[in-house]
Amino acid sequence: MNIFDFYNRKKAGERISMVTCYDYTSARILAQTSVDCLLVGDSAAMTMHGYKDTIAATLEMMCFHTSAVRRGAGDKFIISDMPFMSYRKSRNKNIAAAEALIQAGAHAVKLESAAGNTKLIKHLVESGIPVMGHLGLTLQLMNMQGGFKVQGKSEESAERIKQDALQLQEAGCFALVLECIPVELAQQITTSLTIPTIGIGAGPHTDGQVLVFQDLLGLNIDFKPKFVKTFVNGFDQVKQGVDSFVDAVKSGGFPEDEHCYRN
Ligand code: KIV
Repeated sequence: MNIFDFYNRKKAGERISMVTCYDYTSARILAQTSVDCLLVGDSAAMTMHGYKDTIAATLEMMCFHTSAVRRGAGDKFIISDMPFMSYRKSRNKNIAAAEALIQAGAHAVKLESAAGNTKLIKHLVESGIPVMGHLGLTLQLMNMQGGFKVQGKSEESAERIKQDALQLQEAGCFALVLECIPVELAQQITTSLTIPTIGIGAGPHTDGQVLVFQDLLGLNIDFKPKFVKTFVNGFDQVKQGVDSFVDAVKSGGFPEDEHCYRN
């Protein structure tokens, strides 16, 4: 997958799949799947570090996860999130933040919202850094959005998101994540753009879908938003695996002869 495949997929009406990934072992598994691309999301702050939101993600954290994913991901296309405030400083610092993520192994960066970001996006794209946009629920702005809430429900807010989507396309984004917005709005945006939309909590009419790895595998039992579908009962399976190990240790059933070295 490269940025042209994103456009071509949209043109051909072929849906795009994206999964978050934060570490080498998971990247090795995902590299063997048919998933199209990996997102080193700033959700790493929550899934990997236990913070309650993504505001805790730092550039250092994102580079650390990006380089681990790069080492395991084979030829999968990797997009890394620019974390909270890393693209809202001076022009030089914003550019340096994107540069650090690309040098850590990302092929593209993602940043949230349109207002105040379009000049930077143009500059990054002209400098050879593909940019994915992100509209709707944008957790880095959660204190301005009133928390984890569906966006674009009022006519005014829906109109703003539509205009933002056009602005991001115009600025040069190669694709756009739409998070937690009504199905109809996501469909209207998707048909109005030439770049593909990738939805999460945005219904079935986007050009692709993204889920958090831990959510789709059922590893996260603390929080299950309406839009998450768990495809495996991972939490119970991992727990059973570890409990079986403990039982085998207690009963003397492990290690067996095949696990032992002899003279
Ligand atoms: O950080 C993340 O996991 C994301 C997805 C919700 C798209 O941005």
